[in-house]
Amino acid sequence: MALQLGDTAPDFTAETTAGEVELHDYLGDSWGVLFSHPADFTPVCTTELGEVARLKPEFDKRNVKVLGLSVDPLESHKGWVGDIEETQGSALNFPLIADPDRKVADLYGMIHPNADDTLTVRSVFIIGPDKKIKLIITYPASTGRNFDEILRVIDSLQLTSAHKVSTPVNWHHGDDVIIGSKVTNEEAKEQFPEGWKELKPYLRIVPDPTK
Ligand code: BEZ
Repeated sequence: MALQLGDTAPDFTAETTAGEVELHDYLGDSWGVLFSHPADFTPVCTTELGEVARLKPEFDKRNVKVLGLSVDPLESHKGWVGDIEETQGSALNFPLIADPDRKVADLYGMIHPNADDTLTVRSVFIIGPDKKIKLIITYPASTGRNFDEILRVIDSLQLTSAHKVSTPVNWHHGDDVIIGSKVTNEEAKEQFPEGWKELKPYLRIVPDPTK
């Protein structure tokens, strides 16, 4: 059965460019992003890995550990790493899993046989510090991901796990948020003593509580 939001992220041990990694141990108390690539020495993947390396300080700031995966062997990854730095201007600074026997790819359903029966699609899993899966997105091989969007979702997940709010369409850190639908007006008065803007009884807007 396919993994779903709220499931525990399956644990695994794998060879990576940064040595052997055991997922749950690697994540510790951090958030995690696990993302797959169709294959080494491919153009879109090369740009994506360079971009994630460039964004690493943004992931660090949010206490997020990133882990890439490609079904090619470790020796192939090691050869590719030089190309990423040369062409993208950022050296790989996070582990890239080598998964030639597709152990991890199968565990996470990263191969969609009707799209391609050997290569992984571009899967993204965001994992919380409780090791539960908080987001799953699947992109086709031909479309490079938008990692600013992944950071935006992490900002939302971190905010909404600490406060009883939801984030509206196209929200970015610092924008107004929505009081959670299960929060009664009585509770809201305690949590948001400065009040809120009520567009509808179910649509109550407050400033970002972390601002
Ligand atoms: C790429 O990364 O460029 C790519 C990989 C597999 C299929 C299509 C594109």
